[in-house]
Amino acid sequence: MKSLASNDFLIRDAWYVVAWPHELTADRPLARTVLGEDLVLFRTPEGQAVALEDRCAHRLAPLSRGRIESGGIRCLYHGVKFAPSGQCLEIPAQPQGHPNMCVRHYPLVERDGFIHVWMGDPGKADAERVIDASPWASSPHWKPSRGYLHVKAHVSLIADNLLDFGHLPFVHPNTVGAAQQADFATEVRPLAEGVQTDRWYIDVPASAFHQSVGHFKGRVDAWHCFRWHLPAIMSLNSGSAPTGTGAREKPHGSREGAIEFHHIAALTPQDEDHTHYFWVHWRNFALDEPAMTDTVHRNIMAAFSEDQAMVEAQHAAIRRGAQTVPKAIMADRALSLVRSQLARRAQGSVA
Ligand code: FES
Ligand SMILES: [Fe+2]
Repeated sequence: MKSLASNDFLIRDAWYVVAWPHELTADRPLARTVLGEDLVLFRTPEGQAVALEDRCAHRLAPLSRGRIESGGIRCLYHGVKFAPSGQCLEIPAQPQGHPNMCVRHYPLVERDGFIHVWMGDPGKADAERVIDASPWASSPHWKPSRGYLHVKAHVSLIADNLLDFGHLPFVHPNTVGAAQQADFATEVRPLAEGVQTDRWYIDVPASAFHQSVGHFKGRVDAWHCFRWHLPAIMSLNSGSAPTGTGAREKPHGSREGAIEFHHIAALTPQDEDHTHYFWVHWRNFALDEPAMTDTVHRNIMAAFSEDQAMVEAQHAAIRRGAQTVPKAIMADRALSLVRSQLARRAQGSVA
């Protein structure tokens, strides 16, 4: 039996969000571990964002302890300098150079407010396959709040959490969920590389979060509709509208009295026990109110801290080695589909 902490999620040939653009500076290298590999991330003084293996090719000292210089980074152990490509530019103690002194270079794309790195075969890195956040990132009609969590849990358990919104009434009764949301069904549709799920809650009290920012007078129709991209990126539209306004029949953006959000959650495995969790939550209201950006941030972080506590406890329970076989229920459909897609991919039958 496969563990619930499934390593099928640890795909190498994939783009992963590894940092925010502002974290890559020309002042100081950033060390970050992805799929168990230590990366050094930095920006050259010329502005190029770079990801290299965080190990000098000479004596394996971390390049994240090095110095960024024009055109590259210098290891501050014996001064070997590397270009953004990983090629050696200079060996101070050996001016004639060295035929194969280089460090691994990772393809990197900086787009829509994310730094993405390709962890697999560089020959397969297709920048077109980076998640497209441009409809929200570049639109004046959406305003972002951003956050990051470092979660002590296997990426697959966090993916499970996001793939089943049935947990909202129980994990988040006082934040982004409401007890009355428990009974509503989720429509799940498999996609070529992921799933689409739609969950509507008709004629319910607004969640505490939506009530606090939407100031609804009565009950609402609320929704969570998302697309899951393998291995672990969620692109979610959510919101609430006054009941009786026919929100479900209307397209996004034209729902009367509604507040809408778009959310991208990008899960990046650090290793089998830790996950980088980057999120952006765009809103389509109060666009000129900086205080609302903080309010949204605070509310989402509060909710995600509730998830974090649950999945970290679940991860610890699994790691303690219980032999109990997990049982699936109907609400697990989306996460089961994603897991079976990843299992097929791990077996080599899916591109
Ligand atoms: S270990 Fe980097 S220059 Fe020697
Ligand atoms: Fe949650």
